Amino acid sequence: MRTLAFLVSSILAYTAMAAVSAFSSGTLWTDTDGNRINAHGGGIMYHNGTYYWYGECKGELTYRSPGVGWEAYRTETGGVTCYSSQDLYNWKYEGVVLEPDTVNTYSDIHPTMVIERPKVVYNEATGKFVMWMHIDSPNYSKASAGVAVSDSPTGKFTYIESVHPNGQIARDLTVYKDDDGKAYLIYSSEGNATMQISQLTPDYLKTVGTYTRNFIDKSREAPAIFKRNGKYYIVSSGCTGWSPNEAEYAVADCVTGPYTTLGNPCTGPDADKTFFGQSTFVLPVEGMHDTFIMMFDRWNKRDLIDSRYLWLPIQFNETGFTVPWVDNWSLNNNLVNNK
Ligand code: DGJ
Repeated sequence: MRTLAFLVSSILAYTAMAAVSAFSSGTLWTDTDGNRINAHGGGIMYHNGTYYWYGECKGELTYRSPGVGWEAYRTETGGVTCYSSQDLYNWKYEGVVLEPDTVNTYSDIHPTMVIERPKVVYNEATGKFVMWMHIDSPNYSKASAGVAVSDSPTGKFTYIESVHPNGQIARDLTVYKDDDGKAYLIYSSEGNATMQISQLTPDYLKTVGTYTRNFIDKSREAPAIFKRNGKYYIVSSGCTGWSPNEAEYAVADCVTGPYTTLGNPCTGPDADKTFFGQSTFVLPVEGMHDTFIMMFDRWNKRDLIDSRYLWLPIQFNETGFTVPWVDNWSLNNNLVNNK
């Protein structure tokens, strides 16, 4: 009997650790130790042969922010986690690379605050890894962009400050580093009504003081940006809290716009609700021609730590691209390469 129990537990342990070789959107994703991946609203940086996935570390308990009229579900922030991978399927936990400040109750990164959508870029000139993130108060009234820096991709990151970029409020955000080394902060501003884009200073630690206004009064958030064949694409969501809505994408010849809206890229069941997901990042796959992965979060607003990941192929056509729903796929089938 004991031998049988040992055999069963060994098989289960082996199954938990078995190498992953496909993206199964919406299922529970675990790291190489068999633990649930906790990296929400994330972004990925490729550096020296390794992908680093940074995301929000959600706490175990989801609750509603007291005194807030809308559905302000949240957890205490556990900071920003990092996972590393060479193949994009198997992720090794690298730990909490930006730790919350549990001592100073006035800190931007105290567990009672909001840290969302962290994105990291490497600055070749300074040799530093720079993280930008949405920093907010429990009722989302602070509406700021926070910045942290590290000498290594796996941290620890040192938190610098939060700002209202160019004197403007900021909530959902992302960072884009262009081929020429210039980097940009893209953030929902003006009460989430308009998306602003501002170049960062050469050290990537501040905005330059000017910005463009995009999707004016269109209430777009959750920006994810990429460049293909000299054109810039932004995928974004509507503004409905944690609840899903229809994605939209837009194209421009210049990173700071003007952007032309091209409609909803999602196709298949529940495409009008972004497959119950929300955009967070578009990942160009290294060494694969024309291969990009569209990353969404599928939020579980009543149990945020159990929110799932939807990673789907981007398929290009003459006018733009689509993001089809696929249950299970890998980079070496025919879904992504637009040969
Ligand atoms: C939508 C944003 O995209 C999320 O990052 C988060 O801020 C929620 N709103 C909060 O309701």
